[in-house]
Amino acid sequence: MQNNYQSRTLTQHISALKKEKNAVILAHYYQDAPIQEIADFVGDSLELSRKAAEVEASIIVFAGVHFMGETAKILNPNKKVLIPDLEAGCSLADSCSPAAFERAKELYPDHVFVTYINCSAEVKALSDIICTSANAEKIILSIPESKKIFFSPDKNLGNYLISKTKRELTLWDGVCIVHEAFSIEKTISLLKEYPQAKLLVHPESEMHLLNIADYIGSTSAMIRYVREDSATDYLIGTESGIIHQMAKLVPKKRLIPIPIHENNTCACSECAFMKVNTLEKLLACLENESPEIQLDPQIQQRAIRPLERMLSLS
Ligand code: 13P
Ligand code: SF4
Repeated sequence: MQNNYQSRTLTQHISALKKEKNAVILAHYYQDAPIQEIADFVGDSLELSRKAAEVEASIIVFAGVHFMGETAKILNPNKKVLIPDLEAGCSLADSCSPAAFERAKELYPDHVFVTYINCSAEVKALSDIICTSANAEKIILSIPESKKIFFSPDKNLGNYLISKTKRELTLWDGVCIVHEAFSIEKTISLLKEYPQAKLLVHPESEMHLLNIADYIGSTSAMIRYVREDSATDYLIGTESGIIHQMAKLVPKKRLIPIPIHENNTCACSECAFMKVNTLEKLLACLENESPEIQLDPQIQQRAIRPLERMLSLS
């Protein structure tokens, strides 16, 4: 943990380099607070995709995970896209290799392949349409009822979509390790401790948690909810980085991250992939203009279609 002085100096360096190199920093809500603070734009997966497509600066520094940097490159291929650490993966993207995805397409040739944005560029290139948690329901409902749908790679989001849309979806067997870590027992105990609190849960979570939630939504929808709702206490069922933005908007409300299974010493759930990014790495990647997202131009061209389909529908 850097102290405030170091963090301020790092921030000053990053700001100066950003100007000098005509770069913009895009950050996901799950980034550490100092990264969110230095970013030009903070958002959820959908907002960040839209923003990445519109960037006019020469360099996009994507403070998020690898598939997000790839998405920015697909949507804005003439920009240099940098990410602070190439190790920033995602359990969902990792669960879905292009080879296995191609086999699924062979097994289900008459299905429309709707794929969650948390996947590699290669898998996007093989998909019919992409969605995020903010627009998944709308995307599913945009597909004619006569068509069968294969949804990958998040089975929890898939099960949520089945319950919301009443459509039959064939599901890939992938999960987000962060949202799977939440403990239903500990959450119920916490609700007893704060009986007036509302439970907000991200749809990447398991059904038993969704069943007891007061509100289910994407990260941006959860932020909107705490801003507009009249309650004062909330239990937050998603990655704890989101609390930084919420606390800025509703400083007087109590925001409590829900507990995870094993780790009794930690009250909250953090995505280890998101948290590999640091201010130091952000500065280094701007200085060195590396690591840079490089994509096969053919993959890039094929992956843009399902992403543009999503953007035109949302
Ligand atoms: P959203 O930002 O779309 O809510 O997704 C959450 C997430 O897990 C991103 O990796
Ligand atoms: Fe992937 Fe889950 Fe981390 Fe999001 S929170 S990047 S879905 S592992």
